[in-house]
Amino acid sequence: MKVLGIESSCDETAAAVVEDGHKILSNVVATQIPFHKIYKGVVPEIASRKHAEWILPVVRQALKEASLTMEDIDAVAATNRPGLMGSLLVGMTFGKTLAWSAGKPFIAINHMLGHLYAAHLENDISYPYLGLLVSGGHSIICKVNGFDDIEVLGTTVDDSVGEAFDKVSKFYGLGYPGGVVIDRLAKEGNPAAASFPVPHLDGSEHRYDMSFSGLKTAVIHQCDMFWNDGFEHSTENMCAAFQETACRTLTTRLFRAVEDTGLKTVVAGGGVAANSRLRAILAERTDIQCIFPPLKLCGDNGAMIAGVAYHFLERGDRSGWDTTASARIPQFKRGLKNS
Ligand code: KG4
Ligand code: ZN
Repeated sequence: MKVLGIESSCDETAAAVVEDGHKILSNVVATQIPFHKIYKGVVPEIASRKHAEWILPVVRQALKEASLTMEDIDAVAATNRPGLMGSLLVGMTFGKTLAWSAGKPFIAINHMLGHLYAAHLENDISYPYLGLLVSGGHSIICKVNGFDDIEVLGTTVDDSVGEAFDKVSKFYGLGYPGGVVIDRLAKEGNPAAASFPVPHLDGSEHRYDMSFSGLKTAVIHQCDMFWNDGFEHSTENMCAAFQETACRTLTTRLFRAVEDTGLKTVVAGGGVAANSRLRAILAERTDIQCIFPPLKLCGDNGAMIAGVAYHFLERGDRSGWDTTASARIPQFKRGLKNS
């Protein structure tokens, strides 16, 4: 089954064709970063307008690179939640209209299930496992029982980890998006240069929850207070110490979940899963099998949408022509099941 997957939830206009949930026939990502960079963050209005301009050429390019026409496509999938409302509406409405006019089934996809599926595109991974979903909008530790069966164990109680990277970078004028810049600068710095405060959310109720707002505030407004003697006050040292604290906040919770559940496989997804320090910390735990998507599939892309869509479609699921978009997923709370 060949699925055309469309992704437009934030600032990438993306489309891909994936066969049977694994074989990537094409994967086109048109990034809007240059247009948002001057504002040091995503401007929703610009994002929607760019999606509207680019969606048709991007989908055409995805079909061309796969050497296919719409006649060869079995179904169309598009992200419809969560994300920027205007952005979501462009890709989802385009996908629905294309599917309707071509007489193909349509399926609307939860973006976070797409991120989780990215690692499955090139690996055979069996369920259950622990998921670590870390992006610009979410930080989630979950038990994953199936492609659409996720039990949220912990989330951030305030900012997402990606947001903390982006805000720190924005404050210090390092560039946008912040994660990749901080990751690069941190390689030249010493994580021991500063001891930033770590969140204490340790009660049983918050055993797997995270917080990044205090860390962000400490790095932005009180950096000197946490500096350790003898270390140069350099940007590289600040980045290394911040990144270390952010990654340890994630991994301490994740390791608790590993111990408690006995699950030894961890699958990561989302833009922050590209972080080199996060990957290194997890690689140190040789008792855990940690599977990361390749770097090109960590950020937003259409292949992860087409990939997970295949499993819904194979089960017979379809979305109606009255399907709409949703900026948030209220169900992404602890203890609730999600699909
Ligand atoms: O998944 P994604 O592309 O979009 C959302 O669904 O939000 O994630 C974007 C986030 C941004 O916050 C960006 O700064 C972060 O992923 N990011 C990184 C790295 N590459 C991207 N964060 C840390 N280290 C990286 N190497
Ligand atoms: Zn994303």
